[in-house]
Amino acid sequence: MKINTVKKLIINIFEKHGLLKKHAIICADALINAELVGASSHGVARLVSYCNRIKKKVINPKPKIKVNKISSTIASIDADNSVGFVGADAGINLAIQHAKKNGIGFVAVKNSGHFGLSGYYAERAAKKGLVAFCFTNAPPAIAPHGAKKTLFGTNPICFACPTGTKVPFVLDTSISMINRGKIRRAAKLGEKIPLGVALDKNGKPTTDPKKALEGLQLPIAGFRGSGLAWMVDILAGVLTGGNHGGKVKDPFDDFSGPQNIGHLFIVFKPNLFVKNYTKRIKENIKRIKKLPKLKGVKKIYYPGENKAERFKINSKKEINIPSNILAEINRLNKS
Ligand SMILES: NC(=O)c1ccc[n+]([C@@H]2O[C@H](COP(=O)([O-])OP(=O)(O)OC[C@H]3O[C@@H](n4cnc5c(N)ncnc54)[C@H](O)[C@@H]3O)[C@@H](O)[C@H]2O)c1
Repeated sequence: MKINTVKKLIINIFEKHGLLKKHAIICADALINAELVGASSHGVARLVSYCNRIKKKVINPKPKIKVNKISSTIASIDADNSVGFVGADAGINLAIQHAKKNGIGFVAVKNSGHFGLSGYYAERAAKKGLVAFCFTNAPPAIAPHGAKKTLFGTNPICFACPTGTKVPFVLDTSISMINRGKIRRAAKLGEKIPLGVALDKNGKPTTDPKKALEGLQLPIAGFRGSGLAWMVDILAGVLTGGNHGGKVKDPFDDFSGPQNIGHLFIVFKPNLFVKNYTKRIKENIKRIKKLPKLKGVKKIYYPGENKAERFKINSKKEINIPSNILAEINRLNKS
């Protein structure tokens, strides 16, 4: 389906579910971006879950976003249980605005929801010539190191900066061995998952995706990954006023209340400490890219470069929506 047609369809569905047009556009842009960078697990397939949560009254379709300006650089936002994209959009925009004007923007968002890809927000800051850190927490999927019960989300860590080219550096990584979406997909298709990415509910390694979903996902790098997940839970949850410590609700099957996810955006100018940032970052990337390559490696990529390449290619194509997801979307459009 043509990109513009998909966008109009998403906007229409969100408006039918009570969103203001401006908020429906924010959501549609985020979902389309996920499709174009090749992260379809965070794309239109998620539309159903957002709409289900609106219907069950655990997402507020008409949030009153409240901004509390703490100083010329610091602010907190209460997203009033908006779709996560809307709360996050307000957060990153304000952080960018503060950073451009005063050097740094530090914005905490609470009472938000699943905001999709962290890199989508960080990239926006980097494309405006700014450095950005974005954090968000997520529902339990990973056990803290040594525990048998899940508590941390796949809590992505994201850092972006300008590179002096059109393509910013965007490191955007979840702290799980693999994406939860990939496990859900394997479960749907009856496929196995690789060994070493999840344990069953008894703490035994499993390649069965259903057992993995009932059990626990493993973090990257053992206790180090568990520590990073914990750090994100503190930054995005404890500090912002959002849910934390395993209290973020699963967006797909827990309708007992809003998710109250927190986001933290830290955005600043790259030339706070040096005058020749662009020259320095170009030199940095050049030195790394020139290193001798391992056998079979044609090019050393910097984080974000691969997604930018996919975005460019996919922007010229139609979006391929699997028939079962299209059927769900058409049902939503009629409801
Ligand atoms: N909102 C949420 O609750 C939530 C939770 C988890 C993940 N996510 C999102 O899911 C997305 C996928 O996460 P992921 O961990 O599967 O990402 P990934 O493994 O695809 O990529 C991780 C990082 O590695 C970089 N990378 C990939 N291949 C590379 C290469 N060959 N050379 C250099 N760098 C390379 C990517 O650019 C990216 O920055 C992210 O955008 C993340 O924000 C969201």
